[in-house]
Order: sequence, then C-alpha cells, then structure tokens
Amino acid sequence: MTAPTGHHVKGFPQTVSVIEVGPRDGLQSEPEFMPTDKKIALVNCQIEAGIRHLEVTSFVSPRAVPQMRDAAEVLAGIDRTKGAVLTALVPNAKGAERAAEAGVDAMVVFMSASESHNLKNVNRTRTQSLEGFAEIVRIAGDADIPVFGAIATAFGCPFEGDVPINSVVDIARAYRDMGITMLSLGDTTGMATPPLVQERCQALGQTVPEADIALHFHNTRGVGLACVYAGLLEGITRYEASIGGLGGCPFAPKATGNICTEDLVYMLDECGVESGIDLRKLVDVSRQAETAIGRILPGQVMKAGPRLQTYGMDSVATANG
Ligand code: COA
Ligand code: ZN
Repeated sequence: MTAPTGHHVKGFPQTVSVIEVGPRDGLQSEPEFMPTDKKIALVNCQIEAGIRHLEVTSFVSPRAVPQMRDAAEVLAGIDRTKGAVLTALVPNAKGAERAAEAGVDAMVVFMSASESHNLKNVNRTRTQSLEGFAEIVRIAGDADIPVFGAIATAFGCPFEGDVPINSVVDIARAYRDMGITMLSLGDTTGMATPPLVQERCQALGQTVPEADIALHFHNTRGVGLACVYAGLLEGITRYEASIGGLGGCPFAPKATGNICTEDLVYMLDECGVESGIDLRKLVDVSRQAETAIGRILPGQVMKAGPRLQTYGMDSVATANG
C-alpha cells in the first residue's frame, strides 16, 4: 500500500520525490567494501519498493573513495525497466567521461559553499571547481545527459562554522548561468536547523527562481526530519535520504548518517504527502541493508514498526507492585 495514511497537512505539497542516496552517500564512508552484487541487489529492492530517484554511485577517484570503485559495474546491474532515474556524482572531466560511458541518467556535479570543505573534498578552490564544471557540462551535453548541481556545506561547515547565505546564492546563480537548475542543498555534517532551512529556501526562491531545489539533510544532531518539515512548509518537493540512515562524509569530521529514507516516508505518509513508496517493503530493504553491512543502522521505524502496529497484551510483563 503506497497511499498516505494521515491527513494532509495544510500548506504541504501533495506529492514529493524521495531521492535515495544510500548507495552513494550512505556507503561511501563504509570502510568495508560492499560486494558489487550486494549493492546492485540493494538498489533493485529499493526500486521495487517504489523509489524512482536514486543516486547510485560516484565517479570520483577510487583512491579518494575506494568504496565507489565499482561505479560502472553497479550501474550496469541495476534494473532500468521501471523508469527509475539513476544519477551519480561526478567531480571532474574524467568522472564525466566514465559516467557517460556507464549510461547515467543524470550527472551530479558538486562543490561546497565553504572554501575549506571544498579544498578537503575535491582538493581545489571553489573558483577552480566552477571553472571545471564547464568541461563536465560539455561532455554531458555531447552525450545528451542532464547535469544537476549539488551545494555541500550549504547550512554550515565543520571547519568554518556558519556559511553566509550569499555563498550559497552565488553558487546557485553560477549553476543557473551554466544551465544547471536542478539543485540540491547539502547539509554535509547536520548543521541545518528549521529556521536556516526556511531562510535559505526563501532566499533562493527570490534570487534564483529557476532553481528546482532538493534538500539533503544529515541527522547528526537529531533535527533532520524537523528540517524536512520546514522544507515542506516552504513547498520544497524533493528530499534526499539514505536507507536505514546510513552515511557520512569521509572528508568532514563528525559526519554521521543521512536522514533515514523509511523514517522520512513514514513522516510523509502520516502528513498525507504522497511519495509512491511502499513503507513496509522499504523497511524490509532497510533490514536487508543492515544485514549486508553487519551492524545496527540508526533508522527508527525499522525497529519500532509503523504507529498502528499493535501487540498482544501478553507480549510484555504487567507492572505488578
Ligand atoms: N575517476 C577516476 N580516477 C580519477 C578521477 C575520476 N573521476 N579523477 C582523478 N582521478 C585519478 C587521476 O587519473 C589521477 O590518477 P594517476 O595518479 O594514476 O594519474 C589521480 O586520480 C589524481 O588526479 P587529480 O586530478 O590530481 O585529482 P586529485 O588528487 O586532486 O583529486 C578529486 C581530486 C576530485 C579526483 C578527488 O578529490 C575526489 O575524487 N574527490 C571526491 C570526494 C568525494 O566523493 N566526496 C564525497 C562527496 S560529498
Ligand atoms: Zn550527505
């Protein structure tokens, strides 16, 4: 069953897209290499559960992120028959050529709003990143593949603290000027708060109205879904999340998992917002991911079940005094 279970919250969109980033953001910091067939099985089960947008891998340097070294093989194994849109991160021209060859549906270029995280993450300044994107756009254009743009550390930077809103707006404008309007605001280390989400979404709506914004939160400080709620109030219709809450950036201190996909779907269902995703199937996928990874994942609905899951009265002891 994929219909929302709750009453629609006034002011929220009717429908949103849930973008699964677990296979990329979730797995990239796992020290143990997950075999390619397990990655493929995970993605195929996510598609089977109704997810239609997935960031499945990254064509980055395999020395920088060894977990992503099988990017092309992962893409080759995924079920393309259900029309799921498969994207991948691309840092440079070499990554763009590999991604085009592997047949991604869209390339995601990325840079950080803060200079220091950009230096850590891609070993170049923000200006150098922007200059390099022209070549990626050209390669993608020749292959007829759209390019999306991600802005990391959009709500704060682990090295610099607060990130000025203008840094985010300037990058969004630069992306727009390159013809990139599918944007994602990344909260790399869980520094977003509901008021910051409101402020940044409104500022972008005013300054770069062409942009179609996705929000990407990490639950590092426990307010990931509250930030989604703030985004929904601003009419944002695309949210990135990771199965089981897996994740973290290896190039940012104290980074922990993304918001959890099935917890997000649970909240959307209860707020009367359609995602087209079958929560029960997704919980099964999350358990499968947990087994494959070999440790307990942070997701909560996978442990507690949906809210109307009831139990026999004899399932716990009576509190006799
Ligand atoms: N795919 C495969 N190999 C790549 C590559 C790519 N996209 N980009 C660079 N390389 C290889 C080069 O061929 C070169 O190999 P060689 O030494 O055998 O000749 C080597 O990596 C260094 O290349 P260089 O261009 O000097 O890159 P760099 O060392 O400055 O690293 C990045 C820059 C962008 C490639 C690297 O920092 C990176 O992959 N970052 C991604 C980080 C990430 O995924 N973060 C998580 C997302 S938030
Ligand atoms: Zn992330």
